[in-house]
Amino acid sequence: MTDEIRRGLAGVVVDETAISKVNPETNSLLYRGYPVQELAETQPFEAVAHLLWHGELPTGDELAALRAEERRHRPLAPDVKAIVDLTSLGAHPMDEVRTAVSALGADDLAGTGTVLDASGSHDDNLARSVRLFAALPAIVAYGQRRRRGLGPVHPRDDLDYAANFLWMTFGEEADPVVVSAFERSMILYAEHSFNASTFTARVVASTLSDLYSAVTAAIGALKGPLHGGANEAVMHVLREIGTPDEVGPWLDRALAEKRRIMGFGHRVYKNGDSRVPTMKHALVALAEHVGRPDVLALSDALEREFVARKGIHPNLDYPSGPAYDLMGFDTATFTPLFAAARVTGWTAHILEQQAANALIRPLSAYVGPDERHVPGSAGG
Ligand code: ACO
Repeated sequence: MTDEIRRGLAGVVVDETAISKVNPETNSLLYRGYPVQELAETQPFEAVAHLLWHGELPTGDELAALRAEERRHRPLAPDVKAIVDLTSLGAHPMDEVRTAVSALGADDLAGTGTVLDASGSHDDNLARSVRLFAALPAIVAYGQRRRRGLGPVHPRDDLDYAANFLWMTFGEEADPVVVSAFERSMILYAEHSFNASTFTARVVASTLSDLYSAVTAAIGALKGPLHGGANEAVMHVLREIGTPDEVGPWLDRALAEKRRIMGFGHRVYKNGDSRVPTMKHALVALAEHVGRPDVLALSDALEREFVARKGIHPNLDYPSGPAYDLMGFDTATFTPLFAAARVTGWTAHILEQQAANALIRPLSAYVGPDERHVPGSAGG
C-alpha cells in the first residue's frame, strides 16, 4: 500500500467495469464495445438503455418489451406529483428531481423489509431501473411546466421515448429534426464510466443501500457546475457574452478573474471530448431548422478564441446547452435532462456494483492536531 495522496482520485483506477470505455488517446467512448457516435446515429434511446443494462443491443422482441414497460411507467404518479407540488417554485429543478426520485423510492420500496433487504435482487433492480427511466421524463417535463404555470401533459402511447418526452414538456408534437437532436443528446449523455455522479451511485450501492438512494445521491453529484450543471452554466455564459464581437473582451476579463469557462475541459479527455462532434452536428441542424445562425456564430467564436488561448477543448455540455435552448427548454431544465439520460448509466453501474460488491471506503491522511485532552477529563 502506498501513502501517495491522489487528490480528486485523479488517475486512480478503483474497479473494473464492462459498461463503457473512455479512451482519451483516441478521444473515443464505447458503450459495451460500440462507439457512442454509431449508437447515436442509428439507435433509439430505448435500445441504448437496454444495451447498457444487459450488455447487448435488444432483439426486436426485447425492444418491444422494454418500450411496453416504459410506457406503463410513464404517467406521473399522483403521490410523486403531490411531492413535486410541495417543492418551492424557487427551488432549482435539480432539487425537485432529487426530491421526486427519493419519493418514488419511498413509495416503491414501502413494505420491502428492513435495511438488510434494501439492496434487493438483480431482477427487482432491473425493474426499478426501467421504472426510473420511464418516470424521470414525466418529472422533468412537469417541473418545467409547473414553473411556467402549466399543468402536466398526459403521455402519448403512440410516441416513443424521445418524442413523448418533448410532447409531455411542450404539449405539442415536436418536429423530427428536434426529436432526432434530443434523442442524440440523451444517448451521448447516457454513460461515461466512473464520472463523479456514477461513482457516487456506486459508493452508495456498495453499502448495500437501495437503488433509489444511490440514484438520489447521484442526482446531487450531477447538479454541480463542474459536472452536469455545466450545460446550464454554458447558457448563462453565452448570454453574458451576448455577441461574437464581445468574446475577446469578455474572455480577457474572465481569465484575469481566473474564472472557469463552463463547457470546456475534462478530467479524462485532454484533446477533445469524443461526444462533441455528434452533438455539434445536431446543434447545427437545429440552428438551421429554427433559423438561428447567431447561436452558432457566438458559440463558434467563443470556442475558437478559448481553444486558441488555453488549448482547452469543449466538452459535451458546450453544444448541448445551446441545443436545449433552441429546443425550447428553460435553462434550469438542462441538467435535469442530463439526469434523465444518465439514469440509464447510473442504474447499469449500480447493477454491476451489486453483482460483485466491495464496500467503497478509501483512506485519508490526517493533518489535524496531534492527540490532546479535554481539560478536566482523565487525560487532561
Ligand atoms: N476554464 C478555465 N480553465 C480551465 C478550465 C476551464 N473550463 N478547465 C481546466 N482549466 C485549467 C485549470 O484552471 C487548471 O489550470 P492551472 O493548472 O493553471 O491551475 C488546468 O486547466 C487543469 O484544471 P483542473 O481543474 O486541475 O483539471 P480537472 O481535470 O480537475 O478539470 C474540469 C476538469 C473540472 C471539468 C474542468 O475542466 C472544469 O472546471 N471545466 C468547466 C466545467 C465543465 O465544463 N464541466 C463539465 C464536465 S464534462 C460533463 O460533465 C459532461
